[in-house]
Amino acid sequence: MIVRQIPRIETGCMSYLIGDPSSRSAAVVDPTEEPGVFLDEARTLGLRIERVIETHTHQDHLSGAKALAVGLQVPIHLPFKSPAKYPHETIAENSRLRLGDSELRAIHTPGHTPDHMTYVLGDAALVGDCLLVGTVGRADFYPAGPEDLYHSIFDKILRLSDEVVVYPAHYGPHHGLPEDRFTTLGKERRFNEALTVKSKEDFIRYMMEGWPPKPSGWREISERNTSA
Ligand SMILES: [Fe+2]
Repeated sequence: MIVRQIPRIETGCMSYLIGDPSSRSAAVVDPTEEPGVFLDEARTLGLRIERVIETHTHQDHLSGAKALAVGLQVPIHLPFKSPAKYPHETIAENSRLRLGDSELRAIHTPGHTPDHMTYVLGDAALVGDCLLVGTVGRADFYPAGPEDLYHSIFDKILRLSDEVVVYPAHYGPHHGLPEDRFTTLGKERRFNEALTVKSKEDFIRYMMEGWPPKPSGWREISERNTSA
């Protein structure tokens, strides 16, 4: 499986171009607003973008998913809990999306947002903002966020093997994160501060204390990302 990270340096957002090496069938996951970078990268790698996929409803930046899918006339796939009001294909819990001979397995991992999903392809996991390098995604956009995130991480993500390469949707100093753009589950299991808590109660406390303010205008951003 080809996994190409496409960072947006000004905002620390990470998009992904993933492709099946034999059929050259590809998908873009969590595209930011500049469609040209995805088209250029696909052309360079000889890949054909056949799907656009979101891990969750973004609250901190405008998504380019709908515009990219419409421009390419390909389906857009959103988590089954997505509040999006525009036409889309729904990704169910534990469903599989084919990309040529390869497939993505979808796991519902709420906490950062209620609709959040993680996509596993071979030994790679596109974890969105569920798990980040050295920490986890903020979980204060809705009341049950911290508890949902606990179950998503401890009951689902950490069931995957240590060798799994973790690809997050944010990186770098813009988000108070290291410059590392990916990690492994084994490394995070040992060194991630949020994962070393002793109990669910400790984790919930950790998620509720000392986080920076929510992104400015997050309600409007979320509204625009889901409008018809
Ligand atoms: Fe997010």
